[in-house]
Amino acid sequence: MQQQHSGGEGGRPRIAILGAGGRLGAALARAFKEDSQVLPLGRLQADLSNPLHVVELVRQANPSIVINCAAMTNVDACETERSLAATVNAEAPGTIAAACTEIGARLIHISTDYVFSGEASSPYAEDAAPRPLSWYGETKLQGELAVRAAGARHGVLRVSWVFGPDRDSFIDKALQTARQGEPVKAVADKISSPTYTLDVAAALRPLFADQAPGGIYHVCNRGACTWQDWAQAALDAAIDAGINMPIRNVEPIKLADLTAMVARRPVYSAMSCRRIEALMGGQSMRAWREAVGDYVRLLVAEGRLS
Ligand SMILES: NC(=O)c1ccc[n+]([C@@H]2O[C@H](COP(=O)([O-])OP(=O)(O)OC[C@H]3O[C@@H](n4cnc5c(N)ncnc54)[C@H](OP(=O)(O)O)[C@@H]3O)[C@@H](O)[C@H]2O)c1
Repeated sequence: MQQQHSGGEGGRPRIAILGAGGRLGAALARAFKEDSQVLPLGRLQADLSNPLHVVELVRQANPSIVINCAAMTNVDACETERSLAATVNAEAPGTIAAACTEIGARLIHISTDYVFSGEASSPYAEDAAPRPLSWYGETKLQGELAVRAAGARHGVLRVSWVFGPDRDSFIDKALQTARQGEPVKAVADKISSPTYTLDVAAALRPLFADQAPGGIYHVCNRGACTWQDWAQAALDAAIDAGINMPIRNVEPIKLADLTAMVARRPVYSAMSCRRIEALMGGQSMRAWREAVGDYVRLLVAEGRLS
């Protein structure tokens, strides 16, 4: 029987974050600690390859909300370490979701645009049929299904091309390469929607409300672009901020040129965010280029790009 959770100390939600050392988990932990009791659980404390141990930790912590940002995110490694990927990305989320249902906590589970096959030509809606091309995508889809089966209040948040200040991503590498005067090359025939971690933090707050419906939500910045556009926008923002960039243009390459990639990836996986935008009172996710600009200005302000 599902309990009704009374929330944390002084009405502040008590939020356990799994994967708190990662790019998204660290950003969420920082964003929510101002007005919530945050329990950051990194891989050392909560290893999802041992789901029952994680469940024990969650029960002891007795949070009102659990956010699962932990995952085996190396798409190619998932192809070769299939059993580990299945445990971490599929089995553990289901086990944790069942424990959350029992203690009356809402689970917000992070998933991916890689559940889609990439055959679409307009942004995927939340109810579009998934058809993963890779074992990573397949295990993430199985994780989503297990979470949803464990309780209707649980939320599955699909994000894509995640970037932010807590761990380097593709655009940080592009900026570093350009700063060093090395040519920057990026794929120009793969399209999706970049997702700024600080914008995810703002967008998922409405899900803390008891009455917010569960199910699938897409959370990414508005619009779609190629990896080349994404990297070029980062370089442009750095140039606009007065950073000396010896390399100012990103050269296009084809996805097929990346022969070291093992897993198949969707060529088109932009997503529309209608459900979360409705929960945000009709406010749109901000445009991806604006988010990239803000991020680069943050790097400059913090002296991390000079
Ligand atoms: N990055 C993207 O572009 C992208 C795109 C779509 C969806 N997503 C999803 O977004 C979520 C957050 O990813 P991210 O971008 O923040 O990537 P990330 O920086 O790789 O974060 C993943 C975190 O999970 C941890 N982890 C890996 N295996 C674990 C295990 N067995 N037990 C506990 N923790 C484990 C990692 O620990 P270590 O630090 O020790 O490796 C890392 O802290 C994931 O669900 C991912 O599938 C990401």
